[in-house]
Amino acid sequence: MTNTKTGADIGVYGLGTMGSALALNFAEKGFRVAVSNREAGWIDSFLAESGDMAGQLEGHADLADFVKSIARPRSILFMIPSGAPMDAMIEAITRYLDDGDTLIDGGNADFHDTRRRAAAFEATGFHYVGMGVSGGAEGARHGPSMMVGGSAHSWDQLRPMAEAIAAKFEGIPCVAHLGPDGAGHFVKTVHNGIEYADMQMIAEVYGLLRDGAGHDAAQIGALFERWQNGPLSSYLIEVSAAALQSVDPKTGQPMVDVIRDQAGQKGTGRWTVIEALKMGQSASAIEAAVGARGWSAEKEVRVAAEPLLAAATLEADLPGADDLERALLAGRILAHAQGYRILTAASDEFDWSLDFAQISEIWRAGCIIRSALLDALSDAFRAGVPEGHLILAPEMRARLADTVPALRRVVAAAASLGVALPALSASLSWYDSMRRGRGTANLVQAQRDFFGAHGFERTDEAGGKHFGAWNDLAAPG
Ligand code: 6PG
Repeated sequence: MTNTKTGADIGVYGLGTMGSALALNFAEKGFRVAVSNREAGWIDSFLAESGDMAGQLEGHADLADFVKSIARPRSILFMIPSGAPMDAMIEAITRYLDDGDTLIDGGNADFHDTRRRAAAFEATGFHYVGMGVSGGAEGARHGPSMMVGGSAHSWDQLRPMAEAIAAKFEGIPCVAHLGPDGAGHFVKTVHNGIEYADMQMIAEVYGLLRDGAGHDAAQIGALFERWQNGPLSSYLIEVSAAALQSVDPKTGQPMVDVIRDQAGQKGTGRWTVIEALKMGQSASAIEAAVGARGWSAEKEVRVAAEPLLAAATLEADLPGADDLERALLAGRILAHAQGYRILTAASDEFDWSLDFAQISEIWRAGCIIRSALLDALSDAFRAGVPEGHLILAPEMRARLADTVPALRRVVAAAASLGVALPALSASLSWYDSMRRGRGTANLVQAQRDFFGAHGFERTDEAGGKHFGAWNDLAAPG
């Protein structure tokens, strides 16, 4: 593109892995990029290593110079730790801004912070964008998926640059303006919640094959590699297949066998679950995945418990590879359905009018949860989803009818063998809860009324509050 403006097209502040990669991506697409960083030394190293892109880049250690070097109205992208550092940054930079300038937080921020900051900016002439960026370092460098929340003004400003650097799915950029204030960061949070569930369910199938059938890492990796050619095709299956077949140069053992079984987490999965519960939802597959990471941290307890707690003694044949593949697909569909249900609840609560087909479309490439399923989900949303529940969409009902029987066999076999499948079994329980017209909450209501006179509604009368004619408890013997 030809640059006729004076000054850089965009500023990128924060030259860690993600910030550096995004700055180079903008530069490669022909934009002029001003860069800055809290530690000034990083700027020189970044510029020195920028190779062919050096001509498109300029570095400024001084914040005022950095802002001045960007063409107005300015777009300034921050790739810095979320929370207090972002608040400090806003405090430091706003004095240099002019009307119409936009600050963009590209980190994994808590959407409540984004809403608070966007509201504070409303009284100024400046704009605040919360932008979820997915795809890791490789995605940021060559094409991330981006979820944008903010004003229409900011989107007009950012759109040509964001579309140029985004991942493309059949030529369509994987970036969209999803709504105001925290909408982009919330959608990214739920993306990560689904990411947690998908990772966990893949790990559960690995665990069943390892502990239930004694398969080694390379065998399981080879099976996942085959699945990459079928309906499970996805970045996370591809990554898992490659990881399982990687060898530790130090010991010659499979790489995964020398990794301690304790998973880290930065918080987005937990936020998804917390927000779901606050809105009266339960993303049980995502919650199971967050919980499993928590339990993994209790390594010493698990080691001590292994000889103390009785193992399963039931006989069971491990379901075949076709069943495992179908079970994983069922779990993936159900976890996505839970994620979209949370998005629906948040869209209603915060008045965002989220477009679920559009969200599915920008998740088809670039992001960590990209998969063949997402293309089918966007078609399902475009065709219309009854009751706002993805599991009721005709195409998803058909897929679930085809895959849930396998999920039942896998969960039953794992229970008999004593192999934990927290996310897969949670997704199955959710499916069975949702498909039963009459559940068991009538007894919960009876219990509540029995001990607390909380009242209940009757099945044979509309509305109203009724109290039960309860039997007395037997006198203590
Ligand atoms: C992405 C990822 C990314 C996230 C990592 C690590 O979409 O690119 O979601 O944003 O930071 O996956 O997250 P945890 O440390 O919480 O596992």
